[in-house]
Amino acid sequence: MNGNKIRSWLGVRGFGESHGTAIGVLLEDIKPGIKFPIEEIELELERRRPGRQSFTSSRLESDRIKILSGVIDGITTGMPICMVVYNEDQRIEDYAALKDIFRPGHADWSWYHKFKILDWRGGGRASGRETIARVAAGAIVKQLIKPIQVEAYPVQIGKIRAGTFTEGFTNQLFWHDPYTYDAVLQELSDAKEAGDSLGGVLEIRISEIRAGLGDPVFGKLDARLAEALLSIGGIKGIEFGAGFALAGWHGSQANDAMDVDGFKTNHCGGILGGISTGSEVIMHLVIKPTSSIAQPQQTIDIHGNEREIEIQGRHDTCLLFRTIPVAEAMVRLVMADCISYQKLLDGDKKDLNDYREALDRIDEDILLALRRRKEIVKLIAEYKAEHKLGILDVRREKEMIEELSIKAELWDIDNNFVKSIWRLIIAESRNLQEE
Ligand SMILES: Cc1cc2nc3c(=O)[nH]c(=O)nc-3n(C[C@H](O)[C@H](O)[C@H](O)COP(=O)(O)O)c2cc1C
Repeated sequence: MNGNKIRSWLGVRGFGESHGTAIGVLLEDIKPGIKFPIEEIELELERRRPGRQSFTSSRLESDRIKILSGVIDGITTGMPICMVVYNEDQRIEDYAALKDIFRPGHADWSWYHKFKILDWRGGGRASGRETIARVAAGAIVKQLIKPIQVEAYPVQIGKIRAGTFTEGFTNQLFWHDPYTYDAVLQELSDAKEAGDSLGGVLEIRISEIRAGLGDPVFGKLDARLAEALLSIGGIKGIEFGAGFALAGWHGSQANDAMDVDGFKTNHCGGILGGISTGSEVIMHLVIKPTSSIAQPQQTIDIHGNEREIEIQGRHDTCLLFRTIPVAEAMVRLVMADCISYQKLLDGDKKDLNDYREALDRIDEDILLALRRRKEIVKLIAEYKAEHKLGILDVRREKEMIEELSIKAELWDIDNNFVKSIWRLIIAESRNLQEE
């Protein structure tokens, strides 16, 4: 089914149900030779995991990722990359009482009418647990979209809007306004106590983005971002730049004037004609209140009987916090897609980022070579110890440095620079042997 595949050059496909064996993701188009960012993936999954704040579900999912294919010695092979997270802490009994009942606000009713099957185990594939796949895929492309930065944070929770953005004000809600923080905590506590839930608004910023990304006319950047972000469960609205407020403005206010330094304002939110302008892309996402609430609700079951339900179990008071890494991941996937298409248009033309990527690879090669050298030095130390040979061999060290400096000159590298590096390397080898 095509809906499980993100329409992207990276061939990202998700699979798995919330209370099935596992949730997984398949990426078909990742190039070989890329350092596989396992730490980055684990970090992002940790940000999405429930039970990290007082207002998210207390389910104890460890969300440990297993790499099934496409990676060897920490490097991508170019073959499909398959990653899975096995489902733990399932507590299927939380859902048994709801069997055959359509939960208000959930996908149960509409999915049942599409598939004629009701996955009563927490919504199956409609569950927010599906977003593990998005977060894992988004973490992989983080390095591919450099220097682009993507950041999401709440600007409204319930009725409370954040006022001043205060740098360095850190808290469990990722709320940037110290003046309204206590009011937000109170609003969340009240909703939790009442067995109810709250919605909110996330602001997303894409910074360090070059001009020219996005494709006319059906692949416009705003259209693609909206498609990617609205595909996250619970997201009900999106605006770009000044967004819905533009309806009440005049053109003279709305237009972003330019001078030689660029745009003077950014009401368009960094996108004009579906293509990035080079200014920050700014979006707002509306998230509905969590559907699973611990209050009595009227509904019906699949046999047409009227029922009253009260959802037990462990649910988020507000979905906003766990949606942050998911939204960032979806934006990164769209960015990766736009960049790879732009590279086709640009042909062989390299940008600063390409050169930096090449340098990073070389630096990594140097580190690997140093690691191999260290292993050999240890073997030499063992050999010398076994044959009762001295560690210091001044003549050999001198010869080595001379030979390398001749080669350096031939290859047009400053030989003093090479000599000083190898003096350090040899000193380190001597220390290792002495150890
Ligand atoms: C990360 C994440 C976690 C979610 N967890 C829950 C949850 O615990 N309870 C709930 O009622 N909805 C949760 N949702 C939202 C539902 O998946 C979503 O509301 C439902 O599938 C219906 O889809 P719709 O709201 O887009 O119409 C979560 C969404 C996300 C993105």
